[in-house]
Amino acid sequence: MLKNKKILVTGGCGFIGSHTVVSLVENGYDPVIVDTLENSERFILDHLEKITGRKIPFYEANCCNETQMLAIFEKENFGGIIHFAAYKAVGESVAFPLKYYSNNIGSLIVLLKLCEQYKLTDFIFSSSCTVYGSPEQIPVTEETPMGKAESPYGNTKIICEQIITEFTAVNAWFKPVLLRYFNPVGAHPGGLIGELGKGVPMNLVPYLTQTVKGIREVLTVFGNDYSTKDGTCVRDYIHVCDIANAHVQSIKYIDEFTHYPEIFNLGSGNGNTVLEVIKTFEEINNLKVNYRIGQRRNGDVEKIFANTEKAEKKLHWKCQYTLADTMKHAWAWEKNLEQFKK
Ligand code: UFG
Repeated sequence: MLKNKKILVTGGCGFIGSHTVVSLVENGYDPVIVDTLENSERFILDHLEKITGRKIPFYEANCCNETQMLAIFEKENFGGIIHFAAYKAVGESVAFPLKYYSNNIGSLIVLLKLCEQYKLTDFIFSSSCTVYGSPEQIPVTEETPMGKAESPYGNTKIICEQIITEFTAVNAWFKPVLLRYFNPVGAHPGGLIGELGKGVPMNLVPYLTQTVKGIREVLTVFGNDYSTKDGTCVRDYIHVCDIANAHVQSIKYIDEFTHYPEIFNLGSGNGNTVLEVIKTFEEINNLKVNYRIGQRRNGDVEKIFANTEKAEKKLHWKCQYTLADTMKHAWAWEKNLEQFKK
């Protein structure tokens, strides 16, 4: 059981982490952020204060550093952990596999050791639908077999899930939850927090919004010869605030699960093509997207979306936002971003 309401949020200045911090505060929890700020910026902390009306305790620290983390655990009396901190760029992971293995796996091991030392039971881990590889059966349930990782990044998620499972097998007191995200997009409706990624974005929605903003010249649609309704790939796009809420629900209902680790797919349950995303963006924002059809991208899965029944039932959770909402909020964030960075 949650010893108290103080929740360690590693990577709490990141995209999903920051939205989860907001959701935790709204639900009466006390988040404490640990983040290196390597892939975020300090203004996110100020904006979290604006949104929540309180200063969120923050440590600039790396979860791989056991000494640093131990000092934080000594000072704070955590009731649970939500572990987001990880590298997530698929292409970069192919170029620098060791960077991904050491960071994503190293940080998990440090945190599990600390859970053991402090007998911390409640642990939520950020996983990904990438663990399913190219699934034969769609929609994907939690029972769908895991596939072959398409990248070192994907492999870190599979390995981390295995480590947590093996650790739980010999530590019956431990209650981890693995949340497998589909495609988190959008931003907080207030437009103060969103996705920050540095450099050229690899993901569809930030590339799209940057193209409309004029930062990128043209959005390339990676292939239109897939066997889908319009030939472009199908994904399950889910609003980041819906993903954030599912973390809070996981903390709330963690004691009710019958076995651990308990696994949930976090998606909207809808499959949308790349062209549908572009069209939805254009309609809701009354703007044109400059795009062209290009070659397929290596490693892209043709079609994947989630069966969300288990999450809806056991987490007492449902998506609140539509694809149109996510496109509206993603654009509101992109429009303001430049001014925030100053
Ligand atoms: N796409 C484009 N043009 C772009 C970027 C993306 O057409 O410039 C297309 C992709 O081909 C794909 C879709 O948009 O069909 C979504 O691509 P993203 O890169 O946004 O997302 P992915 O589904 O490839 O990747 C996501 C997460 C990964 C995770 C993976 C698991 O970002 O972290 O799902 O399937 F590993």
